[in-house]
Amino acid sequence: MADKATTTQSKSLEGKVAIVTGGASGIGETTARLFADHGSRVVVIADIQDEKGEHVATSIGTHRCSYIHCDVADEDQVRSMVDWTVQKYGRLDIMFSNAGICNDQQTILDLDLTVMDRLFSINVRGMAACVKHAGRAMVEGGVKGSIVCTASVAASVGGMAFTDYTMSKHAVLGLMRSASRQLGRHGIRVNCVSPSGVATPMPCQLSGMEKDEVEKFFSKSTSLKGLVLKVNHVAEAVLFLASDASAFVTGHNLAVDGGYIPSPATAS
Ligand SMILES: NC(=O)c1ccc[n+]([C@@H]2O[C@H](COP(=O)([O-])OP(=O)(O)OC[C@H]3O[C@@H](n4cnc5c(N)ncnc54)[C@H](O)[C@@H]3O)[C@@H](O)[C@H]2O)c1
Repeated sequence: MADKATTTQSKSLEGKVAIVTGGASGIGETTARLFADHGSRVVVIADIQDEKGEHVATSIGTHRCSYIHCDVADEDQVRSMVDWTVQKYGRLDIMFSNAGICNDQQTILDLDLTVMDRLFSINVRGMAACVKHAGRAMVEGGVKGSIVCTASVAASVGGMAFTDYTMSKHAVLGLMRSASRQLGRHGIRVNCVSPSGVATPMPCQLSGMEKDEVEKFFSKSTSLKGLVLKVNHVAEAVLFLASDASAFVTGHNLAVDGGYIPSPATAS
């Protein structure tokens, strides 16, 4: 039985064409690898880190993974990237809209609005562009696809810093909730995954700490003890939302947070 279950799961994305934004690093990279492992026909990695993105695509295998440069803050680039995917692979089944950034500090009293604008252009505008153009491609292609957006625990609680990031992730929930209602009539599902802190390059670079120090720090904010959040825990949740295992789930924000306890030092 166990073998049968494993075999079934390993084919859960069989034949699917997927896009992963921010797929050159962290959560996106691990999810792109997991999608490929679970039988997706092709995974298109869209990112601005060209060398890293090309490397991830090559290591997955160029017969089932492509890299394309795409700054999600630029709607034209998002449109071209989605069009390119549909022209080359015939359809789009899955959009994992995951690219995002986090600014340091940004407490309300010292909020740098120019810096905030740049973050919003990626985390909010870019996310909306990806959902819009993926949704259009799915509707035009008659594909009952799945769109998954990366939000965060910061989409549901406030913190002592990271005001612009927290605002942007709250906006992602609004985007997902609206899009899920509007695209439901086409059979397209839209959901969010909301991780608590996970030691990707983003928090490591922001804090200047090593990966294990970051993990120790984030572990203080979870109810669940004896386990640390890793990128593969997040990727498994995305796989669930992307696949038919969640066929009747839409408009949902799936927390992957070990029972997150907001602390004064709430991070990304
Ligand atoms: N790491 C955490 O603690 C955590 C927690 C909750 C949510 N998140 C969210 O997870 C997502 C992925 O972050 P991560 O932790 O894997 O960080 P990461 O820095 O490892 O990966 C983010 C990727 O997004 C790409 N990116 C940034 N700006 C882009 C743009 N304009 N266009 C295209 N790609 C762009 C980066 O080049 C990078 O490859 C983000 O949306 C982040 O907000 C992270």
